[in-house]
Amino acid sequence: METITKRNLLLNILNRFRSEGKVVGFVPTMGALHAGHIALVEKAKSENDIVVVSIFVNPTQFNNKNDLLHYPRTLERDEELLNNATCDFLFLPDVSEMYPNGVEEIMSPINLEGLDAVMEGAHRPGHFAGVIQIVKKLFDAVGTSKAYFGEKDFQQLAVIRKMVKEWKLPIEIVACPIVREADGLAMSSRNTRLKPEERKVASTISQTLFKAKELWKDHSVDELKKIVAELISSEKQLRLEYFEISDIQTLQAMKNGEKKNAVACIAVQLGEVRLIDNVVLG
Ligand code: PAF
Repeated sequence: METITKRNLLLNILNRFRSEGKVVGFVPTMGALHAGHIALVEKAKSENDIVVVSIFVNPTQFNNKNDLLHYPRTLERDEELLNNATCDFLFLPDVSEMYPNGVEEIMSPINLEGLDAVMEGAHRPGHFAGVIQIVKKLFDAVGTSKAYFGEKDFQQLAVIRKMVKEWKLPIEIVACPIVREADGLAMSSRNTRLKPEERKVASTISQTLFKAKELWKDHSVDELKKIVAELISSEKQLRLEYFEISDIQTLQAMKNGEKKNAVACIAVQLGEVRLIDNVVLG
């Protein structure tokens, strides 16, 4: 695996491969890699000639300074995992490479038709503006490719798909299923920040979602919200930030009586760590 820190160099190298007819797969990450990321890399490897993984902890998508400060950084281990997963290029820019004019730079607005107004967008002001800003820069640095994203960040995936469509970017988005720990907890870089006693109760989040899926057929949106709130509050370390049943396409909240194309999304605070998860209800 070769490590590249400059955008222009990366694009030049990848364009050389493209001129030989090779196709490029891209996995954008913020590092602290886990089996979920490696599944994306392996999927990319199976569908492309060249795989690029980026590691960049993007400051503009953190609405909470403390979260940015404590975001896990495990570069040595990440490099080892990527080498084993036969990643070809690690793109490892620093902040000045991605934001040469400073992180306050303004981006041209994009109409996301409300995708960014709910759930993560409502609870983390500015988060999706930061995600769009960096993902656009990363896509530009990699060029035409298939880009792989995990479904754990369900809303992020919808926002990025919309961005690609609006700006007609030469990128095909590939969504990959959530990878879970044996007890059901969705894999996340943030899980490493959980204290042992918090880790024990963290699986209540996914177990609650699985229960919600089971009950969905016979319960309304309001009934399910009440049940989920009760299940989460039965663990006193968990604080429910939101639980929404949303339309899979528009992400707008569903009403009682609506049943089709629903996804249940949850955000929970556990100690100092904020965790999200989701499950498609059907
Ligand atoms: O999902 C992530 O890890 C990040 O939001 C992403 C897409 C790499 C942008 O910084």
